[in-house]
Amino acid sequence: ASRSATATSAPIGVIGGSGFYSFLDDAAEVSVPTPFGEPSGPVTLGAVGGREVAFIARHGKDHRFPPHRVNYRANLWALRAVGVRQVLAPCAVGSLRAENGPGTIVLPDQVVDRTWGREHTVYDAEGPVVHVSMADPYCPRGRRAVLAVAQAQDEQVVDGGTLVVINGPRFSSRAESQWHAAAGWSVVGMTGMPEASIARELAVCLTSIALVTDLDAGVEEGQGVTHHEVLEVFAHNVERLKAMLSQVMPTMPDDDECACRHALDGQRLPFDLP
Ligand code: ADE
Repeated sequence: ASRSATATSAPIGVIGGSGFYSFLDDAAEVSVPTPFGEPSGPVTLGAVGGREVAFIARHGKDHRFPPHRVNYRANLWALRAVGVRQVLAPCAVGSLRAENGPGTIVLPDQVVDRTWGREHTVYDAEGPVVHVSMADPYCPRGRRAVLAVAQAQDEQVVDGGTLVVINGPRFSSRAESQWHAAAGWSVVGMTGMPEASIARELAVCLTSIALVTDLDAGVEEGQGVTHHEVLEVFAHNVERLKAMLSQVMPTMPDDDECACRHALDGQRLPFDLP
C-alpha cells in the first residue's frame, strides 16, 4: 500500500546505518521529492510501540552510497517533510579507546567535523543569511531517552563522548587515529557530519547512536580495520539496536522543549521549511 507523503505524519525518524536497511514491517513506502534532489531512498512510514515512525536507509538500497555521496540534505529534508522532528541516527564507528570495544554503544554529546567537499548546508543561496548554533550538536533529551532504555536493558552504553567524522571512504592512518585519540575524542565515523548540522539547520533534534564495530588503527596493534569487519560486527548487533530503538520510541519526547527546535527562532529564512 502506498500513502501520500503529506497524508501521514511521523514525529520520529530513524536513519539506518550500514547493515540497518529496514526497521518497519508492513510499512508504507513514500518517495519524497526535495529541493536538494533525491534522498538515499524512499521513506518508510509505520508504527513502532504506538508511535508513528519514519525510516530511511542512509546508504540506500544495497548500500549503494558511500559516506561522502550520501545526500544528507535530501534525507533530512524528506524526513522533516513527513513530519519528523526527532531523529535517531545509528551509525557504525571505530573506537579510539581500548576499553570501549566492539559492541559498545556510544551516545556522543560532541562532534568534530573533518569532512570536506560535501554539500554541508541547506542555506547555500543568496538571500537572508542563516547561522545556527552547534555548541551542543545533539539533542540532550533524545540522548537521555536512549540512555535510559539502554541502561534498563543492561546494554554496554557510554553516555557522552566526541565523535570525530572523517571524510572517508578510506579509514584513518595510524598516526591520524593516534592524533584523534590524543585529542581526547572517543569514536570515529564517516557519516555523522554534515548529518547533525543539517538536522540543526532544519531545527530537527538528532541523537547519534554510535555502535563500535572495531578499534581504530591507532588503538589496535594489527592491520587496522576492514570494511568487512565493520559490516560483520554491525550486522551482528543490528537486531539488538532495533530492539533497543523499539523500546525507545514510546519514550521519545515530542514537544518543543529543547534548544534544537528553536535553532531558527528570530531568523529570516530564504524558504519555507516543509
Ligand atoms: N566506521 C566504522 N569503523 C570505522 C573506523 N574505524 N573509522 C571510520 N569509520 C568507521
